[in-house]
Amino acid sequence: QEAQSESNSSSDDNNKATKAVEAEKIVIKFSHVVAEDTPKGKAANMFKELAEQYTEGRVEVEIFPNSQLYNDDDVLAAVQQNNVQIAAPSTSKVSKLFPEWTIFDFPFAFNDVASVQDAMESEEIGGKLFNMLSEQKLLGLAMWDNGFKQMTLDDHPLYMPDDFDGQQFRVMSSKVLEAQFESVSAVPTPMPFSEVYSALEQGVINGQENTLSNIYSKKFHEVQKYMTISNHGYLGYAVITNVEFWNGLPDDVREQLEKALNETTQWVRENGEKLNQENLEKIIADDMLKEIHYLTDDQKQAWVEAMNVVYDEFEEEVGADLINAVKALRD
Ligand code: LMR
Repeated sequence: QEAQSESNSSSDDNNKATKAVEAEKIVIKFSHVVAEDTPKGKAANMFKELAEQYTEGRVEVEIFPNSQLYNDDDVLAAVQQNNVQIAAPSTSKVSKLFPEWTIFDFPFAFNDVASVQDAMESEEIGGKLFNMLSEQKLLGLAMWDNGFKQMTLDDHPLYMPDDFDGQQFRVMSSKVLEAQFESVSAVPTPMPFSEVYSALEQGVINGQENTLSNIYSKKFHEVQKYMTISNHGYLGYAVITNVEFWNGLPDDVREQLEKALNETTQWVRENGEKLNQENLEKIIADDMLKEIHYLTDDQKQAWVEAMNVVYDEFEEEVGADLINAVKALRD
């Protein structure tokens, strides 16, 4: 009898303890728009695993991929309202709130992903960009790479600037991306990522630009005929949280989450490019495109010259200091 009641009371204690932990459990909703088998999709899942492990279950991370919870254009507002705690929109989309962030959209601004990483680590570029987020209740936690964008079109191959003439391309919400297409007489159409496949399928747009992992995982190559490997622009992500939420976390939890984030960032840096390359191989193996063209040096030079007007056009909005700092890294 006694032993029985002892065991009851110890299981009561256990229940109480479990309930206390559950009550304290911190839930982080992390919303994004891409498939899970992409640099960002994999990174988000890795962050979840590490965060839950390092905080010994005190934190639960709920990942919502594929625009399940929020679309591109409303996710930052959702972070500001603390309806989601983490988002990782492309830097292009951050430019809706902070035009300076569009610096990553400038055509041919970066020679390789390593230069983008150098830019983000420099005080005059990354430091400046991350600091301004706090003006709008946001905090930048990390920068995750995807990689370079390629062009696709339904009607004919894209070799020279003239080939863009009159073609309708989907763009992310970024003024610089619109200007990039206007510089070659194409017609840019801003549109959320989740709508691109059906817009291509129905011919609402003729073409689009994206990384190989986004093209493959969303099957854009199945509704396009031509792809040019142009590496003309960079696509990466600002991992962003709500500043009050983050600062309100217990110090030890925040430290463990930072550790999980740092390891994830390191992983994306080392694997983003490889993943995109693997996706190119999958696109080739699918054999749905009529042609995959690799931009020649002369063609690239023609694109660079045609698109260069964007730099002058946005000098005032983005700031000459920022543009010059990026140019200095490249030249
Ligand atoms: C896009 O809209 O094309 C990208 O921002 C999607 C993404 O997040 O990679």
